[in-house]
Amino acid sequence: MMRIFVLTGAGISAESGLGTFRGKPGDGLWAKFDPMKLATPEAFAADPGAVHAFYNARRNNLLTTKPNPAHVALARLETELAKRGDKLFLVTQNIDNLHERAGSRRVIHMHGELLKARCTQCQAVVSWHDDLETTSVCPRCEQISALRPHVVWFGEMPFEMDMISDALSISDLFVAIGTSGSVYPAAGFVAQARAAGIRTCEINLDASDNADLFDDQRYGPASEAVPVWVEEVLLSA
Ligand code: APR
Repeated sequence: MMRIFVLTGAGISAESGLGTFRGKPGDGLWAKFDPMKLATPEAFAADPGAVHAFYNARRNNLLTTKPNPAHVALARLETELAKRGDKLFLVTQNIDNLHERAGSRRVIHMHGELLKARCTQCQAVVSWHDDLETTSVCPRCEQISALRPHVVWFGEMPFEMDMISDALSISDLFVAIGTSGSVYPAAGFVAQARAAGIRTCEINLDASDNADLFDDQRYGPASEAVPVWVEEVLLSA
């Protein structure tokens, strides 16, 4: 059985109209907004209204977008590999649902999901497509102002790290798509893969922060580079 581990980042959704976080100077979400004021537990405790407004704007934007050919190609790869008894393990740092809307059946959201809310009282995780407010009520415990976006903020542990680490250690190929390699623990996966003797490849618009750790590099827009790579994998497998 061949096992391919794919990690995606904001770059795979850029051509769908979802901004990336970092890029050229002045570009990227974090050039316009202070992550320490909007994406930390401390920021939420200090000003939940501002944090809700930030994620509400991103949620509303997400609801106007659609998957691009890169998302579609990965969904096809999952299906075709499964037909042959091989496996795709897809982990995303993205909080959008474009992989699922493109048809991917199994997606690990290590940084959470924008279309879900979590109750800070009863820990319920619920689907949430509307705006979140400080007056929002938890559908399970009915507590008011206890809901927060079900996303991982700076200083918080990503989700499913044990499962991700196990899947990485038994993979035959590690591929990073559309990520700058600047945020850990995801940025450390390539070194982990290399240490385990796993072949590595990055597909990105330009060289990421740890490009030199990859055996192969492919540069170009994901909507073009990913379908080409998927075709090659399916022809070679
Ligand atoms: N096709 C391919 N790659 C692209 C494209 C594109 N069309 N557009 C941009 N990129 C690349 C950029 O060159 C950059 O290397 O995508 C990368 C995006 O990097 P970041 O904005 O840093 O996003 P990401 O790596 O996913 O950020 C990691 O940081 O802010 C936190 O939690 C947030 O999950 C996020 C994490």
